[in-house]
Amino acid sequence: MKITIAGAGYVGLVTGLCLSSKGLSVTILDVDSNKIEMLQNGKAPFHENGLDEFLETYRSNITFTTDPEEAYQHTDAVMLAVPTPEKKDGSANLEYLYDACGQIVKYSKKGCTIIVKSTVPVGTGDKLERFFFNKAPGLFHVASNPEFLAQGTAIQDTLSPARIVIGAQERTTAQLVWEIYKSFDCEIVVTNRRSAEMIKYAANDFLALKLSYINEIANLCEIVGADVETVSLGIGLDPRIGRQYLRPGTGYGGSCFPKDTKALHWLARYHDYELKTIKATIEVNESQKVRLFKKAKKYYENLSGLTVAVLGLAFKPGTDDLREAPSLDVINLLAEEGANVRVWDPVATDNFTKQHPGLATACQTIDEAIKDADICLIMTEWDEVKSYAPEDYARFMETPIVIDGRNCYPVTSFVGSGVLYDSIGRRAVGTELLEKKEAA
Ligand code: NAD
Ligand code: UGA
Repeated sequence: MKITIAGAGYVGLVTGLCLSSKGLSVTILDVDSNKIEMLQNGKAPFHENGLDEFLETYRSNITFTTDPEEAYQHTDAVMLAVPTPEKKDGSANLEYLYDACGQIVKYSKKGCTIIVKSTVPVGTGDKLERFFFNKAPGLFHVASNPEFLAQGTAIQDTLSPARIVIGAQERTTAQLVWEIYKSFDCEIVVTNRRSAEMIKYAANDFLALKLSYINEIANLCEIVGADVETVSLGIGLDPRIGRQYLRPGTGYGGSCFPKDTKALHWLARYHDYELKTIKATIEVNESQKVRLFKKAKKYYENLSGLTVAVLGLAFKPGTDDLREAPSLDVINLLAEEGANVRVWDPVATDNFTKQHPGLATACQTIDEAIKDADICLIMTEWDEVKSYAPEDYARFMETPIVIDGRNCYPVTSFVGSGVLYDSIGRRAVGTELLEKKEAA
């Protein structure tokens, strides 16, 4: 079976490489000629754990192209992995999806099965089916096959998924998608198209809800003197709750939870239904994303002219993706207030300086970022931060105040270090530093 993947992004490229590693014949098409050129030269166009090595091993089995005719004319199946970003009103923008479908109709010689991996509102598959039917009746069938990979662990998530979901209206269409995945060792859920589309949103939004819940519990822990790490453990050990997605922090970011919560909320409203849990999830996250800025204001009424070090820019470790990263909200507020912001990240600094020129000073090392700083904010839990010695903050900073938005360290590691250490949902230590500072 010949498979074409439209979109060489996180989903398309990783899926293409993984299917190719299973011996399937794959062509990857993208409209971005720079991306395709990089891939043809064996270079990954973004940072993802293990991607460079995986690309080196399997790229020779894949055709990378920008030519839709080459990609679509003889293919049996097209997997759509194009963006479905958020529109201003919160709904999903489907223009990339329809652009790709228009090209498929134009160039496919014999018709094919369209497999939608992009995250799309419930009912999109039905609309696409009508779109194809109106142009070429009977030649195209549409399946939903939502993707559940997470960035940073994309390759292992794809090769060993928790489940595969196939949504189709006819047995033959479901069977074709099943053929692609038959060598994967996991449960395959086969259902109708609308249920498959709903599974994707319901999964992402449930995880986002769990995060907003633990973030609120963490904020309350700080007020009432409880420790959120133990609370997370204590509730997560109940298998009905589970331990994952209970790490409190600076709020969720990335290309999906923020847009998918808003899209489902929008869809419900469109059908005159108010999704109250998701509305609350979104609101809690908006305020959690700026929590570190608010905490910084606890220690300095005015941050103007102060040097603030920000450790971590990416929305999570293992990626250089800055989409909806909480670091950006915080850095913008710091800059608005007139602080001198220095940033460090092991992989995302280039993207940051390209996308936000002049907003902050990029540093090569943690030492350089925190040198003589008045406060340090930890935004991403990179291993380099977790292994950075607590005493070194005291050694390099002008005033060693560290606010850790990702609970990278045990609180006890800062006891007696000469650093004021404040994290999420746990007691702050070293607050005597402030008294000394005020006295001086
Ligand atoms: P991405 O932005 O990384 O990549 C999408 C690619 O599609 C881009 O390279 C773009 O140039 C290309 N493209 C746009 N129009 C095209 C067209 N007409 N033909 C061919 N290529 C085209 O996006 P992504 O992160 O891979 O996400 C793709 C979809 O998958 C979205 O709907 C997203 O919600 C969903 N998803 C993403 C993830 C993730 O972790 N990133 C996980 C699950 C689902
Ligand atoms: C998420 C889902 O995990 C994937 O299953 C899904 O396919 C994907 O969205 C998508 O649809 O695009 P991703 O956004 O890559 O994947 O990353 P996650 O690991 O889920 O993290 C999302 C955000 O939640 C990050 O900002 C992360 O820092 C935060 N998070 C996660 C926490 O704050 N605490 C946790 O315990 C877990």
